Amino acid sequence: MTDSPKVLISETQLRTRVTELAQQISHGYASVDELFLIGILKGAFMFLADLTRALTIRHRVDFIALSSYGMKGARPGAVRLVLDLRESIRDRHVLVVEDIVDTGETLAYLLEMLAARHPASLKTCALVTKPSRRVKPVPLEYVGFEIPDAWVVGYGLDYKERYRTLPYIGTLDGMP
Ligand code: IMP
Repeated sequence: MTDSPKVLISETQLRTRVTELAQQISHGYASVDELFLIGILKGAFMFLADLTRALTIRHRVDFIALSSYGMKGARPGAVRLVLDLRESIRDRHVLVVEDIVDTGETLAYLLEMLAARHPASLKTCALVTKPSRRVKPVPLEYVGFEIPDAWVVGYGLDYKERYRTLPYIGTLDGMP
């Protein structure tokens, strides 16, 4: 495996698309008093930081961390909450900001959990999606990029905690 990932989505492409997404979101929530953004840690931290600065509507930010059970004997796709929100989302307009949607298991789990807290509305924004990998169908209202089935890193995304801080999204040699 080489050390420098091959560029799949460049810094310029990311900047342009994140600005477009922020415009779409600002337009979509123009009539709402305040938008409540929920970033999924760790992967969404860079995307959310850029997105939030490009929004032109009033919004607040909170975070959730989830982790997949990688343990022997655990149900495949099982997800666990490791950090919860600090604030209530009851009667608030919530937009979940996810780095990448792969099988959809993580987002499906999260949406079910958040819906039970009675937000005024609940929508999703994913920077990257891999539609061919989907196991659980999940609604995605705002999407940055659709990519084929490949492991990608950079701009918040990691491979074994490496490459998160790359300014672009790339693929690794030797990975599917
Ligand atoms: P899902 O539950 O299968 O949709 O997976 C979602 C999570 O898996 C994402 O939030 C990422 O943390 C991780 N993930 C899935 N595909 C990739 C990838 O290509 N690169 C880095 N992380 C990924």
